[in-house]
This record gives sequence, structure tokens and C-alpha cells, in this order.
Amino acid sequence: MSFQRKILVTGGAGFIGSHVVRLFVNKYPQYLIFNLDKLTYAGNLENLKDFEKSFNYRFIKGDIVDESFVLKLFEENKFDGVIHLAAESHVDRSIVSPTDFIFTNIVGTVNVLNAAGKIWDNLNLNNKGQVSMESEEQNPISSFRFYHISTDEVYGSLDETGYFTESTPYDPRSPYSASKAAADHLVRAYAHTYNLPVVVTNCSNNYGPYQFPEKLIPLAINNIKNNLPVPVYGKGENTRDWLWVEDHAAAIDLVFHKGRTGATYNIGGFNEWKNLDVIHMLCKIMDEKLGRIKGKSEELITFVKDRPGHDMRYAIDSSLISKELGWKPSLTFEEGLSKTVDWYLANEEWLQHITSGAYQQYYQQQYHQR
Ligand code: NAD
Ligand code: TYD
Repeated sequence: MSFQRKILVTGGAGFIGSHVVRLFVNKYPQYLIFNLDKLTYAGNLENLKDFEKSFNYRFIKGDIVDESFVLKLFEENKFDGVIHLAAESHVDRSIVSPTDFIFTNIVGTVNVLNAAGKIWDNLNLNNKGQVSMESEEQNPISSFRFYHISTDEVYGSLDETGYFTESTPYDPRSPYSASKAAADHLVRAYAHTYNLPVVVTNCSNNYGPYQFPEKLIPLAINNIKNNLPVPVYGKGENTRDWLWVEDHAAAIDLVFHKGRTGATYNIGGFNEWKNLDVIHMLCKIMDEKLGRIKGKSEELITFVKDRPGHDMRYAIDSSLISKELGWKPSLTFEEGLSKTVDWYLANEEWLQHITSGAYQQYYQQQYHQR
């Protein structure tokens, strides 16, 4: 069977990646979708069960830090599009062990850029003079694209007012955000120096099904469900701009196909909440769904020592992607949180598998020492 395009998604067994791969596999039967993932603690093949046998899907286990492996993979498969999500993604872990973040997020990104650059060079040489003659479907050079997925955390931290725009200067303040900022700079440098056709998006905090329960929302849901303390860092006044993960995946689809080459788009839902308010909302929803007495789950809220260097506020101005590509979020926060709680309650086995073993060790270290 021949496919119109061969697209590589890195990090597709993780939270956001699994939603992106699912969307592309189901929506584009004419594409062959490859998912390259190392399956770290955050990568989980159970996230992919509903489409793992699809005719247009291939899983490859591998490490983007392994340069020769990545080069060989690109040489063998001649991908004509890359959506790069593979990363170490958790700020708390980056504070405890920053080196993993440097290897995967920076060195790994350079390895994928170099391998993509080689394919691009070949495409470029083989297609000289033909670009304007053919449609995108016929001519891989016109559709080749390196799409780098990044975070709003590269912009630093805001006071009570203002938004991050695409021209906000970079000011990363955690090892995680610094490693993502380095990767963003490298992607743009490859575009400038080698003409690699890239596009970058910087997105706010995502939430929804399949998120590893080390991040605030799934951790709180899991703990409320199990009557465990819900840790709130500092006073709980830090603010995040939350986006339903499927809305991020829909934005990625739009940018991959219609975004301007060389452009950066910020993605966010204009949906800011203080952490403590998020926890209050979750407690209320869970009291209702679990049939608990009103206010019962609130008793689990536990204020713990603050995260070192804790960024105060993130807020994204996403008007560019809305104006240019017509993207907008589909759910209110209340709807999204309710759907998220439903999913975690209905997927007991997924949650149990992921929170057994090493998770317990991590959880003990993180919270019981605070
Ligand atoms: P995640 O931690 O859930 O998933 C990361 C995936 O990358 C995992 O499947 C993991 O196995 C894989 N991976 C890690 N190291 C690898 C390596 N060396 N080689 C190959 N695969 C490797 O992360 P996520 O929350 O889904 O985030 C995905 C991307 O989106 C990241 O680049 C992150 O910086 C970015 N992002 C995340 C958010 C968010 O709120 N979660 C917001 C904005 C941007
Ligand atoms: P997190 O989900 O780790 O995302 P990020 O640090 O990338 O924004 O944290 C979201 C916010 O919630 C952040 O301000 C830290 C805070 N937080 C808690 O208060 N308690 C927790 O147990 C966790 C994991 C996070």
C-alpha cells in the first residue's frame, strides 16, 4: 500500500503525543504515522491501545539521544514531516535531576534536527526547480516540515497582569524551561542557517486523559480518589493557563498543515486559574461524582513547602493562531475538568498500572520529605 506522506511523531507514547498520534492516525488514513518513543516512565503503550493495530500506524522504540540510531531511522524511512514532542517534561524532576533534561531536550532535539536536515538536503537537491510545478500531494519538498512542540514556560514568569506573546523575550527559570528554550533556539537556528522548513508552537499547561499523575490535575484527582493528602505548593496562588489536551492536538494538526513556515504560534485558552482554585473545583466535582458529603474532599488539601524558583504566573495571548488559522478552544474549564475526572474514574486499571512500582518511590521522595 502506498501512502501520501510518512510522518514521524516523537514522544507519541506520552500524554500529548498519544492524543496527536490518535488524531493523525484516525483523521489521515492516507498518511503513514510513525511513533518514535523511548518509553521512559512517562511513555506508556497503554495510551495507544485503541489504534495500535491500525494499518497506517507504526511504533518504534528508541532513544533520540542515540545519534546513529536516529540517523539510520531517517535514512531508512525518508520521513517527509516531523512532529517533535519527545522530551523530559516535568519541572519538579528537572529540579532534582537536570542532566536528563539536557540530554533528551537539547541533544535529542539536535539529533532529530540533523537527521531531518539530511533528508531535507536530499529532497532539496532532488527537487531543484520543481517546487512550483507540482501540488503538495505530489511533491514532498513543498510539504516537508519540522514541527517543534514547545512550552510557554520559556518566556519566564508574569506578575498579575499581561500575557506572553510570540515576541516576548525568552527568560526560562527552571532546568526544564531552560532546556526547552535551548531546543527552540536551535530549531530556529537550523531554519536560519540551513533553510530547514520549521514551525514552532509554545503552548500553555495541558490537562485531560492519559496525563501522568505527577502533574497537578491528575495527581490531585488520584489523591482525592484515594483519600490521600493533596499537596499545594506554597500558598497555592501560582497561576496557570489550562488547555484541554485535545484542543492542543487540534491546534497541532492545523499548524502542521497550514501554519506559515518559519512562524511561531502561541497556544493557550485564555483560561487562567490559581492552583488553589483548581483544587477547590476538583474537590467539588469529585464530591459530586463519588457521592461524598459536600466539602469532604477539601479536608485533603495540604499546604507543603514551595517549589524552588516557582514561576508565579503563566498566561498566553493566543490571538495570532486564532486570527491566522481560525483555531479556538472547544471546551470550558468546567466541562474539561468534569470530562477529565470521568476519564480517570473510568480508567482505574490504567491508573493502577501507572501508579504502581517506581511511581510510589517518586511520590514518597517528592511529598513526604517536604
Ligand atoms: P510526557 O512526559 O507525557 O511525554 C514525553 C514522551 O517522550 C514520553 O512518551 C517519553 O517516553 C518520551 N521520551 C522522553 N525521552 C525520550 C527520548 N530520549 N527518546 C525518545 N522518547 C523520549 O510529556 P507531554 O506532557 O506529553 O509533553 C510533550 C511535549 O509537549 C514536550 O515536548 C513538552 O515540553 C511539550 N509541552 C507540554 C505541555 C504540558 O502541559 N504537558 C505544555 C506545553 C508543551
Ligand atoms: P505542574 O502540573 O507540575 O505543571 P508546571 O509546573 O509545568 O506548570 O504544576 C502546575 C502548578 O501546580 C505549578 O504552579 C505547581 C503546582 N503544583 C502543586 O501545587 N502541587 C503539586 O502536587 C504539583 C505537582 C504541582
